[in-house]
Amino acid sequence: MKFELVKLPYSTDALEPVISKQTIEFHHGKHLQTYVNNLNNLIQGTKFENADLETIVKESDGAIFNNAGQILNHNLYFTQFSPTGGGKPSGKLATAIDAAYGSFDNFQKEFETAGAGLFGSGWVWLAKDKEGKVLITKEANAGNPLAKGLTPLLGFDVWEHAYYLDYQNRRVDHLKELWKIIDWKVVETRY
Ligand SMILES: [Fe+2]
Repeated sequence: MKFELVKLPYSTDALEPVISKQTIEFHHGKHLQTYVNNLNNLIQGTKFENADLETIVKESDGAIFNNAGQILNHNLYFTQFSPTGGGKPSGKLATAIDAAYGSFDNFQKEFETAGAGLFGSGWVWLAKDKEGKVLITKEANAGNPLAKGLTPLLGFDVWEHAYYLDYQNRRVDHLKELWKIIDWKVVETRY
C-alpha cells in the first residue's frame, strides 16, 4: 500500500493566529510528507507492504514504527482542527470527560500539564479504553495510545516543529491556544 499525505480540511492560513500558515506549510507539507515518503520506502519488500497504518503501528518497531506512528499521529492531529472550532465537547464524550476529570476545565488543565511536563518530543493524548473510560496519556516521540490497545481521540503535538516558528520556547502558551481551534464534532466521532 502506498500511503499519501492527508488532505487538510481547511486552507493553510485558516488556523491563524493559533497556528500560522508558515507552520502549517512546514509541519504538514514538509515534516509529515517526509514521514509518508520514508514509510513508503521502508515497507517495500517487508510484511507491512500491504498492511494498513493501524496494523503497522501496532505490530512494527524501529524506523517503520516511528514513521507509521507519526503519520497516524499527524492524520489525527491535522483533521481535528477547524477555524470555527473551540468551545466544549457535548454528548457522550462530555459525560465521559466529566466522569474522569470532574469538569471540562479540570480536564483542560490536566491535559496542558501533561503536555508541559513531557520531556523532549512527543504527544499528549485523550484516549478511550475498551469500557469507554477516557484518560490522558503521554507518549514519547512517535507514540500513539493505539499501541496500548486504546483509541486515540485528541492529540496535541509537543514536538518543537509544531510550535517553534510561532511560539519559540513557549510550549504551554501554544497548548493553551490550541483549544480555540479544536473541532469537537470530529473528536466526538472518534469516541
Ligand atoms: Fe508534528
